[in-house]
Amino acid sequence: MAKQQDRFVCQACGAVQSKWSGRCDACGEWNSIVEEIPLDSIPKGLKAGKGKAVELVDLKGESKSPPRWTSGMTEFDRTCGGGIVPGSAILIGGDPGIGKSTVLLQIVAALATQGRKCLYISGEEAVAQIRLRAARLDLEDAPLKLGAETNLRNILASINDEEPDIVVIDSIQTMFVDNVESAPGSVSQVRASAQEIIRLAKRKGFAVLIVGHVTKDGQIAGPRVLEHMVDTVLYFEGDRGHQFRILRAVKNRFGGTDEIGVFEMSDQGLHEVPNPSALFLTNRSDDVSGAAVFAGMEGSRPILVEIQALVSPSSLATPRRAVVGWDSGRLAMVMAVLEARCGMSFAGVDVYLNVAGGMRIVEPAADLAVAAALMSSISDIPIPQQAVLFGEISLAGEVRPVAQSNARLKEAGKLGFTKAWMPALSQHLANKEGSTQKTSLDVFELDKVGDLRLRFAGD
Ligand code: TYD
Ligand code: MG
Repeated sequence: MAKQQDRFVCQACGAVQSKWSGRCDACGEWNSIVEEIPLDSIPKGLKAGKGKAVELVDLKGESKSPPRWTSGMTEFDRTCGGGIVPGSAILIGGDPGIGKSTVLLQIVAALATQGRKCLYISGEEAVAQIRLRAARLDLEDAPLKLGAETNLRNILASINDEEPDIVVIDSIQTMFVDNVESAPGSVSQVRASAQEIIRLAKRKGFAVLIVGHVTKDGQIAGPRVLEHMVDTVLYFEGDRGHQFRILRAVKNRFGGTDEIGVFEMSDQGLHEVPNPSALFLTNRSDDVSGAAVFAGMEGSRPILVEIQALVSPSSLATPRRAVVGWDSGRLAMVMAVLEARCGMSFAGVDVYLNVAGGMRIVEPAADLAVAAALMSSISDIPIPQQAVLFGEISLAGEVRPVAQSNARLKEAGKLGFTKAWMPALSQHLANKEGSTQKTSLDVFELDKVGDLRLRFAGD
């Protein structure tokens, strides 16, 4: 048989090339060209013969909510929507070394102890290494079955023998299907392996937890193919220099997304952090300027974090703007608004902004806290210790209301804060939302960022 012509397709624009290259000639996208099976080896059209009609039903009908297996680690259970759904496929992505294997070992050990039949298949570590880790985590008595294997055919055979409830595949990039001719970790291998294991999971009703490494630009390796194939995608993120790890749901067919679970890495594995706000705010000192507490929301959870700003004279021709944990474009915008609407000047000064504890904030509601931290640092007047802030700033300098202000205020009250600086309309918005709950906090309503400026000219 003649050798089949290789076919390389750009995953961004679909252009077909005769050889691989780093950049697509057609659309200019980098790293998007992937080898694919030649078109002529795919059968054209359906073969003759009649299909069996699909049984169609009404949208409305009897169906009970899916049963869930809870691990007892509430941070994990909540993130995946209240527990693991039998027959579902969950992808856990994250940087190498962030703690994916550790957290999964803890989760399945907990599930196994509750009587679920769990299999842990590792293609990265030997059985002895996993045992060593389990001993360190004090989990060696959990009735969990281990296997070190990378050939999917063998893995499927042992799943067929064992009939487990939950299977962990650590990691999908090490697995291979022996009839696909490319290296483990390549797109076609990752896709084929995931497809096989997910198909078996759906058929037999076991849940599969798949570990996927993330590439440098933050995508799960294998151009997002995996994200489409699974029911739930969780990202395990965190800064290696900090002990906090955040499990974030980005897709969930059986629950809400934007939920997070907070863990703390210790020498005995990952511990749950039921009250992250308290943790992010420990060791705050009294009279330091430039620190503002932002009352943020992560999904349905309020989280208070400290935003720190430092404005210092610069010796550079182009002063430095450094941001950790927030969007640098957004900082530039807030600074421009402060310059244009409040007459502040950031010329000739370096600006540093840091979100404490290694958190990453994406909410625009943090604008007001950032503006306050900047003002506080410039004027060297500390923000009152018991105050929290939230609100979005528009280019016109208005402070815009944000959603869920009641939840934010409640969390702040719980943690002993007594003042809130927030947008003027939000109480009204909260009342309209149907919640008339009154807050115990002293609320200062702000219309414009200029009102905030006055707070630093003597209260
Ligand atoms: P691991 O779960 O192997 O990461 P991944 O599977 O995501 O690649 O975690 C490895 C890191 O976690 C490693 O740097 C050591 C650290 N660690 C602890 O700090 N404490 C522990 O108890 C364990 C098991 C790991
Ligand atoms: Mg690992």
